[in-house]
Amino acid sequence: MRNILITGGAGFIGSHVVRLFIHNYPDYKIINLDLLTYAGNLENLKDIEGKSNYTFVKADICDYDVVADVFSKYKIDGVIHLAAESHVDRSIKDPFSFAKTNVMGTLSLLQAAQNYWEGDFNKKLFYHISTDEVYGSLNEKGFFTETTAYDPHSPYSASKASSDHFVRAFHDTYNLPVVISNCSNNYGSHQFPEKLIPLFINNIKNNKPLPIYGKGDNVRDWLFVNDHAKAIDVIFHKGKLGETYNIGGFNEWKNIDLIKVLISTVDKLLGRKEGASEKLITFIKDRAGHDFRYAIDASKLKNELGWEPSLQFEEGIKKTVQWYLKNEEWVKNVTSGEYQKYYDEMYE
Ligand code: NAD
Ligand code: DAU
Repeated sequence: MRNILITGGAGFIGSHVVRLFIHNYPDYKIINLDLLTYAGNLENLKDIEGKSNYTFVKADICDYDVVADVFSKYKIDGVIHLAAESHVDRSIKDPFSFAKTNVMGTLSLLQAAQNYWEGDFNKKLFYHISTDEVYGSLNEKGFFTETTAYDPHSPYSASKASSDHFVRAFHDTYNLPVVISNCSNNYGSHQFPEKLIPLFINNIKNNKPLPIYGKGDNVRDWLFVNDHAKAIDVIFHKGKLGETYNIGGFNEWKNIDLIKVLISTVDKLLGRKEGASEKLITFIKDRAGHDFRYAIDASKLKNELGWEPSLQFEEGIKKTVQWYLKNEEWVKNVTSGEYQKYYDEMYE
């Protein structure tokens, strides 16, 4: 029996991780702690909410007293920390929230783990989920490895880099048993439609402009979210304490090429003439400080722990588009209200 605290479990990646752990480990108790910000949605976990090994706690990771109570009430011996503010564009408008949640929130969890475990670290683990954006931006060539120097450019990546440093500091200073992974761009079901792929699927479907920053030549390495969840499972169980593992899809796409794949997939599934929606492509002002290219070398994870992505991109994109087209109600619910205001301000 293990009692595992998953933070941010009502978000995009978190909900996939919670589901995978609930199904794969019926002997574990999973405690999902989430503040349910605009990005957190209990609808994402409808299928597992009645499971006997699942508990949901609505709380803010920044609230140290509440977090400390959760550790003692549920006798937590493992943490998988995903809760964060995660959207780069929002961080450009409101860096303070990112510093608060991503830095102070992580510190509050580290301190609570440290105090609750009281130096007895046998079979304990604090697993921090981070991003490849901490490494900065690449030119046409090269890859991020685990030893690439940190060089964040956006308030989001700066806050994640800072949280990674705190996690390592707790390991080096107090011997807290930690592991960190830095992953590339995820795609799949239940992603909030402010991020490129779900936003564009929704706009193509609704014949709305597709706002591409700059010339669309920035490059991202895309990984199917279920493959990220599987990597997290492997690292949680087999990762070496104090180590970092990069996770990536070995799957680089220029934004403009990826968008054309999305257009053709959506048009085909909606029975439109293939490519009909290309007329929606609209180039707009570039994102401030826009990182040119991310590319992950995930060979350490493959060679040492045996993980590699299982799904081909074309299949993953088709599944993803099908999910968004089928789950109109989910999209409608999350994009109503406050989100409309954000959208109008962002893309005015
Ligand atoms: P998300 O924005 O979809 O979900 C974040 C979740 O955290 C939400 O459920 C939200 O309610 C919760 N949350 C936010 N602030 C909180 C607080 N103060 N207290 C408790 N809960 C809070 O994010 P995501 O895309 O699923 O990313 C999850 C993690 O993975 C993040 O740490 C992110 O940095 C990292 N990551 C994301 C990607 C990606 O492509 N999405 C890639 C690499 C790493
Ligand atoms: O690399 C991992 C990171 O990937 C995660 O840590 C972040 O949480 C996640 O949001 C993601 O960051 P990006 O900034 O790469 O993702 P986003 O979907 O916002 O943008 C992907 C690319 O598409 C990027 O080059 C910017 C561009 N873009 C995005 C939006 C929302 C556009 O051209 N137009 C848009 O409207």
